[in-house]
Amino acid sequence: MPAIVIIGTQWGDEGKGKITDYYAERADFVVRFQGGNNAGHTIKIGEEVYKFHLLPSGVVRADKHVVIGNGLVVDPKVLLKEISELKVRVPESAKLSISDRANVILPYHLILDGLQEQSKGSAKIGTTGRGIGPCYMTKVARTGIRIGEFIDETTFREKLEQILPGIQKSYEALSPDAPKLDIEEIVSEYSAYGSELAQYVTDTSVLLNSALDENKTILFEGAQGTMLDVDFGTYPFVTSSNPLAGSVCIGAGVGPTKIDRVIGVVKAYTTRVGSGPMPTNLTDETGDYIREKGQEFGTTTGRPRNCGWLDLVVVSHSCRLNGITSFAITRLDVLGGLKELKICTGYNHKGTKIEHFPANLNVLSECEPVYDTISAWQEYSEEEWIKLAQKGYEALPEELKSYVNYIEDATNTPAEMLSVGPSRAATVYREIST
Ligand code: IMP
Ligand code: MG
Repeated sequence: MPAIVIIGTQWGDEGKGKITDYYAERADFVVRFQGGNNAGHTIKIGEEVYKFHLLPSGVVRADKHVVIGNGLVVDPKVLLKEISELKVRVPESAKLSISDRANVILPYHLILDGLQEQSKGSAKIGTTGRGIGPCYMTKVARTGIRIGEFIDETTFREKLEQILPGIQKSYEALSPDAPKLDIEEIVSEYSAYGSELAQYVTDTSVLLNSALDENKTILFEGAQGTMLDVDFGTYPFVTSSNPLAGSVCIGAGVGPTKIDRVIGVVKAYTTRVGSGPMPTNLTDETGDYIREKGQEFGTTTGRPRNCGWLDLVVVSHSCRLNGITSFAITRLDVLGGLKELKICTGYNHKGTKIEHFPANLNVLSECEPVYDTISAWQEYSEEEWIKLAQKGYEALPEELKSYVNYIEDATNTPAEMLSVGPSRAATVYREIST
């Protein structure tokens, strides 16, 4: 299976980092294709915990080649910091390539992110403040600077000379006391970053297609999740990229006929960070229990995440949009110990049951989740979960298996992996026929 895509089916933070790392063991390449350092993935290997924002999850493995595709927006300062921290902790890490076509996040994108949020007042998106939206804005407006231009100081300066007056105007439109941009300041700090990054820069579409021709295995690692997609998510409370499987083709330069499988990562419950609706959100003690037990606080911003029941309207929306061939269901351990579990099977909209996620947020706000109730399983310690996982699927609690079967039946999608704890050992893999 040479090209596998891993996608978040909810609002991000489904545990894609751990799942990607598991599949990365058998892959030659791990590739990111959208987003930037708004992402935050956590991987636990033995006692070591790694958190990355920009580098792909396979980067801790020496025999891998990790790629930052053209669809990303890259903050060079953050990337260099991650590279240098990685080199200290894992001297034998993966080979890294960065697309010459990826857009660069510059200091003015970060400032614009803050000014735009401020100007929205209570309607703010609750962005991660990393300049992601403004960088995609300048990309689409054709005033972005790409990595290939950025690493050449002369071109970088020329581009900035063309662009900065327009950026300054947009600053001033948002705030009368907007800071004055200084080209010399930006060039002197950032051209040094460009020189350091130059060694990694290449045409990654050529690299990846040659690898596929040689029958190498490529894992495409999605960031964020389907419900944060700029087209199919809870617009405008979304990120500025497409975290869907189809985005691999655009964001990595690989044709759709090359993709073999799409694995949808489903967290056993739902979480969301930032503003915007989440129909199954719980504001009671069950929500607090899940947040505390699951340590549901943002990897990038530390903000508490909204927590609630699993929403199968959302998961089915993801199955359709991504062409998901199997699931990896994560954080099943967190639900252990609750009295009972609820699963949202549809929304009641003025007396009619809706099964497709509505595009219009006004309609969504009038929807009430419709729940089915099923039994929960008991609580186990991290060590006990590992022991159970090592015995295989059959050894897992009956109620947990019923929960998994419920999800599979409702979505017509098999779950090939179940995760019951942060470590690699707390994972159950099931052979399924695809
Ligand atoms: P932005 O991507 O920083 O523009 O933020 C837009 C929205 O996406 C906000 O609600 C963020 O909280 C959310 N978001 C962005 N990246 C992630 C992520 O990796 N996990 C979860 N939420 C995210
Ligand atoms: Mg995350």
